[in-house]
Parts: sequence; structure tokens; C-alpha cells
Amino acid sequence: MAVSPAVSDKSSKATHVSDVSAYISTRLLHIMSFTNSFKAEDWKLLSGYYGPDPYDINWLMPLHEATLESDRVKLTPFIPSLHARGYADQVKAHPDLHRWFPFNLSTLDIILSAIETLIRRYPMCILFAVIDKARGDAFAGVIGLINTSPTNLVTEIAWAVVFPEFRRSYVTNNAVGLLLKYCLELPSSATPGRCGLGFRRVQWTAHTENQPSVAVAKRMGFKEECLMRWTWVLSEGAEGNGIPLRDGDPLSPRPGRHSVVFSFCADDWESGGKEHVQHMIDLITRYTNGAVQHQFMSATYKPCASIDALVCGTWISDSMGFDADLVQYTADAAKVCSANG
Ligand SMILES: CC(C)(COP(=O)(O)OP(=O)(O)OC[C@H]1O[C@@H](n2cnc3c(N)ncnc32)[C@H](O)[C@@H]1OP(=O)(O)O)[C@@H](O)C(=O)NCCC(=O)NCCS
Repeated sequence: MAVSPAVSDKSSKATHVSDVSAYISTRLLHIMSFTNSFKAEDWKLLSGYYGPDPYDINWLMPLHEATLESDRVKLTPFIPSLHARGYADQVKAHPDLHRWFPFNLSTLDIILSAIETLIRRYPMCILFAVIDKARGDAFAGVIGLINTSPTNLVTEIAWAVVFPEFRRSYVTNNAVGLLLKYCLELPSSATPGRCGLGFRRVQWTAHTENQPSVAVAKRMGFKEECLMRWTWVLSEGAEGNGIPLRDGDPLSPRPGRHSVVFSFCADDWESGGKEHVQHMIDLITRYTNGAVQHQFMSATYKPCASIDALVCGTWISDSMGFDADLVQYTADAAKVCSANG
């Protein structure tokens, strides 16, 4: 029997329709298997937002507060309602404070917004206030951890700012040293106050021209690894890598930044690194400008009438002689001075 063309047509159409619907449903499976609820407006902040109250640091690791404190410095979570205004005052007094930073932090409002959107909302980030105990719990700077991964046991020290009057002293060494201890000591450390996160790698990156930052990494014992190119898009007018951007660059004319990469790893820590960092924490200070040094020491250790009084009792290193305008003291010497007061 001859098959009527109508039936034949119907059957071929049916086959075609079922192919198409299979195709569509396969496609829909891909298209409909996820959603994206990101809304740019959710990231916008009301001006002057200090974060939730009580402040939720939203940090994914345990906070070992005893490890984050030495005789002279302690790191405490940065709480905008306590610290942001002081930070903004420092920026006002020292407009080049963030000269080498990849982002603008020029006003209180911008600082508040950066802390909320770059740090607090990301559990892998935390920012600390650096507190100088030896100067009456003075707020001396900030320092943080970013890109923390408990899966890979890595983190990065970043957003390190020590306010000018606290530099070239024990403050930077203590702030960085305490964070290294916190990150690299084992969680099970039997020594009280030394319990850490047991990470394998702590990174430090610096703008290639930021000599003080590179100097910190080197003197604390980080190993230089490489130059990581084009790591940041800077603000317009900032000092970048000097390489012209190609035509059509989406963020032109904002310059690019290369970063020098350093790391301090668990194997470095266990092969002398730990002792080196402790030594740097215990050093009083080493600085090269006589005027700053005098002002700093008398302000810090009030009971010592002058730097000469301190030097007389405590000078320890001929090789770094006073006449070379470079001074080094021991931690014990400072304690003696503080105790005298
Ligand atoms: C980076 C920073 C924390 C270092 O603080 P510090 O070590 O206490 O003090 P200084 O900034 O005065 O730097 C001192 C060291 O840098 C070196 N240094 C400073 N200026 C320098 C320059 N222009 N060229 C070469 N070396 C320089 C000094 O030799 C000194 O090292 P030394 O003590 O071993 O001799 C501090 O400079 C800072 O807060 N800077 C602004 C923020 C910033 O850029 N942070 C780093 C990026 S996250």
C-alpha cells in the first residue's frame, strides 16, 4: 500500500520537531542551569558607612590574639568607628602616604568604602590596626592579609602602612613579624602565644619603585621571586610602569603597575626564618636620620632625657657606629628605659 504523502509528511515533521525540542532542551539545560544574582548596585555604599554594629570582621581563620602581640606592638582588627578617622587624619597630614598604592584612599569616605568593599565583605581578607603599646597604645598604622586560602595554606600581607612618625623604628618590624608568626607558626605549637595558622606561603608584593616596601620584605627575610607584570590598573596620573598602553585599552589612560613578588614559606620559617623574625621583632630600631631619631626616641621613651642618655647605657654595635649616623639598640635597652620611667 502506498503511503499517503500526508502521513509521510507528518512523520517527517514529527521527527524534525522532536529533534528540535531535544536540541532546545539540551540548550536550555545549559542556559538554565545557573543564575547570576550579582547586582552592581548591591556594591554601592551609603556615604559614611562604618560597617555593621557590632562590627563583624567576617574573617575565615581563627584569630590568635596572643600571637598578634609583642612587648611593644599589637595588631587588633581594624574597626572603622575606632580607627578610620585617625587614618584619614594621617592621610590629610601626609598626602603622599599612599603614593605607591594601586587605589585611591584620599578621604575618610573613600577609606570607609574601601575597607567595606575590599576587606570586610571578603572572608579571605582582614585588616589590622597597628597599635604601638610602647607609646601609650598609639595608633601607628594598618596592615592586612588578603587572598587567604586555607585550601592551599597561602596568604598575602598587604595594605601595609606605617604612619611617618612611627617609621624606622620597631613598629614596622613588629607589625610584619607578628603577622609572619601568626601565618607560619603551626596551629599545634606548644609554645604559648606562638600558635599560628600553619600556612605554607606568605606573599609580599611591592611596586617596583617602592624602595621602603622592598626594604621591609628583604630585611624581614622574604625571598625575592619574580617580577609580576601588569598586576594593577592604577588611578589616572599615578606612577606606573611607564609602558604605553595599546590603542583601545578599556581603561586607558590609567597606567599599569608591575609588582616585585616576595615570599616567606614554611621551609624558610623552619630553617632559621623564625629566629630571624624574632630577632627583628626584638630589635629596637635602626634609622639613618639623626634629627628624626632624636625626636622619636625622646617621644617614645620619655624618661630618657635625651638620645645620648639612652646611647650611653645601651649602645651595642660598633660596626654600626653612632658617628656613621646609624644606630641600633637592643630590646632590653628599651625595656630598661621604659622601666626607668
Ligand atoms: C613601607 C613602610 C611600612 C616601611 O616603613 P619603615 O621601614 O618603618 O620605614 P621607612 O619607610 O622610612 O623605610 C626604611 C627603609 O627603607 C629604605 N628607604 C627609605 N626610603 C628610601 C629610598 N627613597 N630609596 C631607597 N631606600 C629607601 C631605607 O633604607 C630604610 O631601610 P633601612 O632601615 O634598612 O636602612 C612605610 O614606608 C610606609 O608605610 N609606606 C607607605 C605605604 C606603603 O607604601 N606601603 C607598602 C605597600 S603595601
